[in-house]
Amino acid sequence: MCLSDDEKLILLLLASSEAIISNGEEDVDNNNINYRVVGTFPKPEINDAIAVVIDETPYPLSPSPEDNLTYVGSGPIATQGYYYAHVKEGSTNEITSQEPFTRQPTQSDTDYEFYNRSRAYWDIPALPNLYNPLFHRKKSDLHLDGQIATVHFTGNSTELIDIHGNAMNEDAFVMVNMTFIRGQELHTFEDVKMELSGRSSRWNPKLSYSIKIPKEGGTSLYGYRRLKLRSLFSDPSYIREALVYHILRASGLATTDFSYVRVFINQKSAGFFGLIENFKNPWLNNEFANGDPDYQQGNLYQARLVADIFSPGGRISDLSYEGNNASHYKEGQYKIKEDPSDKNRSYEPLIGLIKFLENAPVDNITAWEQHFNMETVLRSMALEVVLGFSDGYSTLADNYYVYQNGLNAGQFIYIPSDVDLSVGSTMSKLSNMLSGDYRTYPGFLRRPLTRQFLRVPEFKERFEEILQQLASHLVNPSVLNPIIDGIADMIRQDVEWDQSLPRLGTTEIDILANQTSSIFDDKLSGIIDDAAIKDAFERPQPLPFDTAVNGPTGHISLTGVKEYIANSSRAILSFYGKQQENE
Ligand SMILES: *[C@@H]1O[C@H](CO)[C@@H](O)[C@H](O)[C@H]1NC(C)=O
Ligand SMILES: *[C@@H]1O[C@H](CO)[C@@H](O)[C@H](O)[C@H]1NC(C)=O
Ligand SMILES: *[C@@H]1O[C@H](CO)[C@@H](O)[C@H](O)[C@H]1NC(C)=O
Ligand SMILES: *[C@@H]1O[C@H](CO)[C@@H](O)[C@H](O)[C@H]1NC(C)=O
Ligand SMILES: *[C@@H]1O[C@H](CO)[C@@H](O)[C@H](O)[C@H]1NC(C)=O
Ligand SMILES: *[C@@H]1O[C@H](CO)[C@@H](O)[C@H](O)[C@H]1NC(C)=O
Ligand SMILES: *[C@@H]1O[C@H](CO)[C@@H](O)[C@H](O)[C@H]1NC(C)=O
Ligand SMILES: *[C@@H]1O[C@H](CO)[C@@H](O)[C@H](O)[C@H]1NC(C)=O
Ligand SMILES: *[C@@H]1O[C@H](CO)[C@@H](O)[C@H](O)[C@H]1NC(C)=O
Repeated sequence: MCLSDDEKLILLLLASSEAIISNGEEDVDNNNINYRVVGTFPKPEINDAIAVVIDETPYPLSPSPEDNLTYVGSGPIATQGYYYAHVKEGSTNEITSQEPFTRQPTQSDTDYEFYNRSRAYWDIPALPNLYNPLFHRKKSDLHLDGQIATVHFTGNSTELIDIHGNAMNEDAFVMVNMTFIRGQELHTFEDVKMELSGRSSRWNPKLSYSIKIPKEGGTSLYGYRRLKLRSLFSDPSYIREALVYHILRASGLATTDFSYVRVFINQKSAGFFGLIENFKNPWLNNEFANGDPDYQQGNLYQARLVADIFSPGGRISDLSYEGNNASHYKEGQYKIKEDPSDKNRSYEPLIGLIKFLENAPVDNITAWEQHFNMETVLRSMALEVVLGFSDGYSTLADNYYVYQNGLNAGQFIYIPSDVDLSVGSTMSKLSNMLSGDYRTYPGFLRRPLTRQFLRVPEFKERFEEILQQLASHLVNPSVLNPIIDGIADMIRQDVEWDQSLPRLGTTEIDILANQTSSIFDDKLSGIIDDAAIKDAFERPQPLPFDTAVNGPTGHISLTGVKEYIANSSRAILSFYGKQQENE
């Protein structure tokens, strides 16, 4: 192993501090602790060094051998306080810039602190569970509410620039190294596969990524290997996905959890992202079987609206029966996202489900349950309405999964996904979404699944009950506003940082704008509102953060987050003759 001088110095410092701890002497002068800071630093061109300034005395920090975005070094326990700073190279006493605040003394090694963020832990109120979980999810520390992790990718710059420049190439990927840093923890991974993710979002200047940690070597990030980094680009509040995934969890459904991360690529800022789980192995084990490695999984189908969003006319993933010919389901509108445990991937189980729906009985709940876990369906559909999914099943027959509940199982589970266009970020008419009457909700009465379950009195009754329970006890300002306020406080500075950054994507967004209306055939007409789409593309980016959180925004394609929740729950409760609490 070949170490740089800096690295040798760090090892020496680490070794000496361990020695002091182990012989237990109370030598205050040598009782140093480690200071650790993460971040990119302004003016790197003048070769500043990084230091921690403890009680006004600078101590040099060096790049961590594990990660170049991280600086570590040793210093005494502060009496007054400390802060991180740039100092002129070679002259540790000349501070060129510094954090505009002082940190409180700490008695032991610091966390990996983020430069220029005075606070690292936030109390975000927990969302009460409205319903018990339907499945047994494995506990994991992947997402910790109230903390923001840092993710750093390093790899071949040419290849990294290339994937951003060819965003529409769905097969492009880069092999990178990845560091995940949060609190006291720093985890490194090699041979991580990094791809762009999403479909229409590939046109955005800020792109989303999917990440695959190799199975070989048995490593994982808190039990997960497939993750997504969501750009949150369409949402100037940056809150919608965080909120909706929390609500899906509190409704007992199978879903990913969500946390915020700061992302860097080759030591350059990529921005503020949402970290979510990709529904790829070992996710099914984690979500449905408490992580049991012997779990026998079924087929997982992803609904993608159409095979190719730019070649209209194909069949759509609305669960319509298209006859017995399997090739009609294989055009690309449904994708087998995960194979069953016996590797015998097949469209037959999906076709069986769809065929059942086509002729589903109105008087046989048992038969329905044999094919579909109906609580997953009814809760998901109620949430589509209450939370205003605008790119979900009822609107665009899009962004959901149906999962065969175990190897060769007859029963399916409904899983909502990709919830960025929600809570008032919309391509449909707001007045139809916010009437309080789900029958006006765009597409709701047209889709086979909703149409059919509404014919069954028990399901209709339960669905309407869930709608009201959601609007009274969960998707309601008195429950959600304190959480939204907590998240807004936590992310405000990172949103500002994100919006100051240059973007890495280079594709022209108006190509998509020009083509959107042509892809919506008769199965979607009347659901999508051309005026709302036009408004979305013409919206200035970005809207002020507080306006985006609170509303009103003056836009027909985007309400405030709190505004949508207040209006949606009020309209639903008043439709059923009830009052919203606290109003
Ligand atoms: C840090 O950067 C240097 C120079 O770019 C590189 O040689 C080294 O491998 C990097 N270290 C890590 C841990 O990425
Ligand atoms: C620290 O953060 C503030 C607020 O986001 C920003 O205005 C300032 O430029 C940052 N300072 C440094 C040295 O990064
Ligand atoms: C990842 O790290 C290993 C070990 O430091 C190094 O050999 C390899 O070149 C790195 N890979 C990339 C893509 O940077
Ligand atoms: C980076 O990738 C490009 C394109 O694949 C290749 O030509 C180049 O040699 C690579 N650079 C390094 C340092 O590996
Ligand atoms: C099934 O559909 C495909 C594509 O529409 C068609 O080419 C094929 O002939 C059909 N097969 C049968 C048995 O009808
Ligand atoms: C594969 O699965 C299909 C559909 O479930 C089934 O019809 C077929 O018999 C299975 N094949 C094997 C080899 O198990
Ligand atoms: C309901 O469906 C189940 C399963 O398909 C079947 O066994 C049962 O006979 C049906 N009951 C009635 C009353 O039709
Ligand atoms: C989009 O359509 C407008 C008006 O028809 C046209 O001026 C513009 O060049 C088109 N943009 C692209 C990227 O095709
Ligand atoms: C929400 O309700 C308020 C108060 O009635 C109203 O002023 C506002 O326009 C509504 N917003 C939407 C998007 O309907």
